[in-house]
Amino acid sequence: MSAGSFYEIGLWVMAGLTLVTVGALTFIVAPYGRHRRDGFGPGLPARVAWMVFESPAVLLMAAVALARGLDSAGAVALFALWNLHYVNRTIVWPLRARTGGKTVPLAVVASAFCFQLLNSSLNALAISGAGAVPDGWLLDPRFVVGAALFLAGYAVNLHADAVLRGLRAPGETGYKVPRGGLYERVSCPNYLGEILEWCGWALASWSLAGLAFALYTAANLAPRALAHHRWYRERFPDYPPERKALLPWLW
Ligand SMILES: NC(=O)c1ccc[n+]([C@@H]2O[C@H](COP(=O)([O-])OP(=O)(O)OC[C@H]3O[C@@H](n4cnc5c(N)ncnc54)[C@H](OP(=O)(O)O)[C@@H]3O)[C@@H](O)[C@H]2O)c1
Repeated sequence: MSAGSFYEIGLWVMAGLTLVTVGALTFIVAPYGRHRRDGFGPGLPARVAWMVFESPAVLLMAAVALARGLDSAGAVALFALWNLHYVNRTIVWPLRARTGGKTVPLAVVASAFCFQLLNSSLNALAISGAGAVPDGWLLDPRFVVGAALFLAGYAVNLHADAVLRGLRAPGETGYKVPRGGLYERVSCPNYLGEILEWCGWALASWSLAGLAFALYTAANLAPRALAHHRWYRERFPDYPPERKALLPWLW
């Protein structure tokens, strides 16, 4: 199959996965983290699970970029943005997270791994190879605004993840009400930051692969943000009433 056909078919698969994901997650909360429950089979330690299922984002992106080449400064900049996020998410974040011996079901690991194989291939194809990103793209307003949005989302995501990490001492597994920064407005600023990042990426790469990933991320994280929000409200009677699930003041 040519790279072009793979890209086209892959985009349709991503569109289908996005619809299935938002449909399924509206009724079933993905069973990991605080929503882990019996009946989903054996699991991998959470730290290992995250490293495994996010690994294609680093390895496959690098392999495709090497094989096809990054032939403009814009392509190199996009490659750098992608890795800024994914080196953190695949290596740094799992090593630092306070997972307290929890596991992620193998079924979740396998499906996230397969998703990331497809997603990373499509986004790597979008930015690599001759003429994929035009010369002068770094000065194009779509790149400038998209990269700024990506970096703003990245900062929000990093800060929010750090606040959560700070809520537990090493070995602890319980939950506390997070405070500070965007937590004063929403229950899941880490998810909000992540969605902003991939919207920024979609704009900066001006690609259908980027758009597909941004839509998938929102379809995946919006229902989970609502589930987290309800979970906090049920367990903490003093949970700040003005706090929304994902979008400050709105939702
Ligand atoms: N692009 C995508 O589609 C996608 C999908 C999923 C996740 N992500 C990103 O991956 C990162 C992790 O996602 P996640 O779903 O694991 O996020 P999460 O549910 O917010 O949990 C993040 C970490 O903080 C801990 N934690 C959460 N709330 C806590 C609290 N109130 N008190 C103490 N510890 C708390 C969790 O422990 P437990 O595990 O024990 O709950 C976990 O180690 C996020 O930055 C997210 O944006 C991206």
